Amino acid sequence: MNIAMIGSGHIGGTLGKAWATKGHRVTFGSRDPQSERMRALLGSIGPSAAAVSVKEAVEFGEIVVLAVPGTEIERVLEEAVDLRRKIVVNATMLFDGRSADAEVRRLANGARVVRAFHTSTWEALANPQFSGGNVTLFMSGEDEEAKQTVASLGAEAGFDMVDADGDEAMAEIEKALFSFWTALSPRFGRDYAIRVLRREEAQPF
Ligand SMILES: NC(=O)c1ccc[n+]([C@@H]2O[C@H](COP(=O)([O-])OP(=O)(O)OC[C@H]3O[C@@H](n4cnc5c(N)ncnc54)[C@H](OP(=O)(O)O)[C@@H]3O)[C@@H](O)[C@H]2O)c1
Repeated sequence: MNIAMIGSGHIGGTLGKAWATKGHRVTFGSRDPQSERMRALLGSIGPSAAAVSVKEAVEFGEIVVLAVPGTEIERVLEEAVDLRRKIVVNATMLFDGRSADAEVRRLANGARVVRAFHTSTWEALANPQFSGGNVTLFMSGEDEEAKQTVASLGAEAGFDMVDADGDEAMAEIEKALFSFWTALSPRFGRDYAIRVLRREEAQPF
């Protein structure tokens, strides 16, 4: 697939690299596509990745992954211009009391928004296989086909994708994960994972 990564840092760089390795065409939409940092990232990925402006990347992508600071959501979606029918995957977080999910759904006109790749640290995304299995990532959204596409991409990158089944359920999961984070990170640092053990794992998500 043609994937636009908006944001080329810990989350965007990690996911972009994983999908490029799996044969997808990945284009980073960046504030500075020619930066040394971007050149180093592209060099570590190889010829299947490129970097352009945010607007150009969005035009290229069938899937547009938002991996910028939550405070930049409005700016990048304004720059994106036309998102109609595109799958917009929102991995951003906001820490000012607003919901990053609600912000993206409010501003991404006509897009099929899926919330995903925000429930784990980037360290776990970069290396999703742990001794007890691979990391579970939670996702939500109203468009079933878009969610299925994102679940498949997640599985390709090595994640155990679970549909939270609704925005309210996702909000509850986020709260619970925050409690786990508070309790577990003093002991395990950032490189640990949550996995949901279930009987119907044959299902894709
Ligand atoms: N790090 C985690 O473990 C983690 C986990 C869950 C969710 N998240 C969320 O995922 C999003 C991305 O996090 P990250 O850790 O990947 O962040 P990061 O390493 O700082 O990367 C953010 C990227 O966004 C772009 N950007 C655009 N405007 C920016 C600005 N004003 N300041 C800084 N960067 C800007 C930059 O790419 P260009 O320079 O190419 O434009 C930058 O590489 C955030 O919303 C974060 O809350 C992060």
